[in-house]
Amino acid sequence: MPAIEIKPDVYWIGVNDRTTDLFEGLWPIAKEGVSYNSYLINDEKKAIVDLAKGLKTDEFFSHVAEIVDLAEIDYVVINHMEPDHTGVLHTLRRIAPGATILGSAKTKGMLESFYGITDNVEVVEDGEMLPLGKKTLQFFSTPFVHWPETMMTYETSHRILFSCDAFGSYGALRGALFDDECTDLDFYQKESLRYYVNIVAKFSRPVLRAIKKLADVPVEIIAPSHGLIWREQPQLIVDLYRKWAEYATGKTEAGITLVYGSMYGNTEAMMNAVAQGISRVGVSLEIFDVARTHVSYILPSLWTKAGVMVGAPTYEGTLFPPMAQALEMAVLKRVLNKKVAAFGSYGWSGGAMRHLKEIIEPIKWELVDSFQFIGKPSEEDLKEGEEFGARFAELVSRIGG
Ligand code: FEO
Repeated sequence: MPAIEIKPDVYWIGVNDRTTDLFEGLWPIAKEGVSYNSYLINDEKKAIVDLAKGLKTDEFFSHVAEIVDLAEIDYVVINHMEPDHTGVLHTLRRIAPGATILGSAKTKGMLESFYGITDNVEVVEDGEMLPLGKKTLQFFSTPFVHWPETMMTYETSHRILFSCDAFGSYGALRGALFDDECTDLDFYQKESLRYYVNIVAKFSRPVLRAIKKLADVPVEIIAPSHGLIWREQPQLIVDLYRKWAEYATGKTEAGITLVYGSMYGNTEAMMNAVAQGISRVGVSLEIFDVARTHVSYILPSLWTKAGVMVGAPTYEGTLFPPMAQALEMAVLKRVLNKKVAAFGSYGWSGGAMRHLKEIIEPIKWELVDSFQFIGKPSEEDLKEGEEFGARFAELVSRIGG
């Protein structure tokens, strides 16, 4: 995509990334891609807001050069130091050594530790204004959305909020840059949730603080550093982020995430019976094979639904390892306060339930019911499994929402 003017003299100069397999070296984006949105304000003073990961560097600087002479860049605003937004910084320094880097006090320290950059760096304060000529930038400190140094930048004449990670999503841009041009908003909303839960959710309280702090700032365009620019419905993405952040307290949707693993099909056979019972009650249900689904895709369901049905066999006296690993990620991401039921096959001694309880205890998941069977489930076991699923669904339908 070429540079795109989003308002007079304000340009998107980002790059699409469709070749990175794992965002942060961890989260799958091979199918979805991601964009690193960067912005250029071409006024008497010329400012770039946020940069890009250190790939497609030629493309990034070509965008800038389409609009201004690279050596004429006056300011580079760093809202956030994570290298997906700063990776081209060294190259920029070589091309435009006179450009002053602006960021928070913590950004100044990180510029040295991440890039060895100490010269021509200025700290901006919360609320500080920077006149560029006809336009003015204002900086708002929003720590821990996503790192401690994070801030947002507001362009006052067009009321554009450059929000960096906040209000962002996975998903490379698919030809459309703006929400009103996009024909698959559902894709971006789904990928916004996955991005939120993977990257930002642990910092939900800071997200709510930032939304509250900016509540009186008139924003017409939300321009995040990943995904679509929201100019028709900026409130939509803010409301979604607020809703997801509020889920951190545990008040979520009346639904069940059924996450299961099976070595030889016995726990899977029971999973089908349990799912039948849940479906009979009519509670919303998402099912994941934990050994074959990256936890990145399971976390959004765990985050948004009140109930978790765990189906896993005992493996060498412990919980089936892929299940343990997925739940440990839920612990790391502070997915709190769920109602849980669990089932699974065991061969002789069991041990999965004990291990499960140990894992979920720190995040206050309450194991309300469990059902184990030896080896292959009998017809009676399967009937009991269906009732077990229905009982749990009834419980969840009463507590969710
Ligand atoms: Fe998009 Fe926290 O970096």
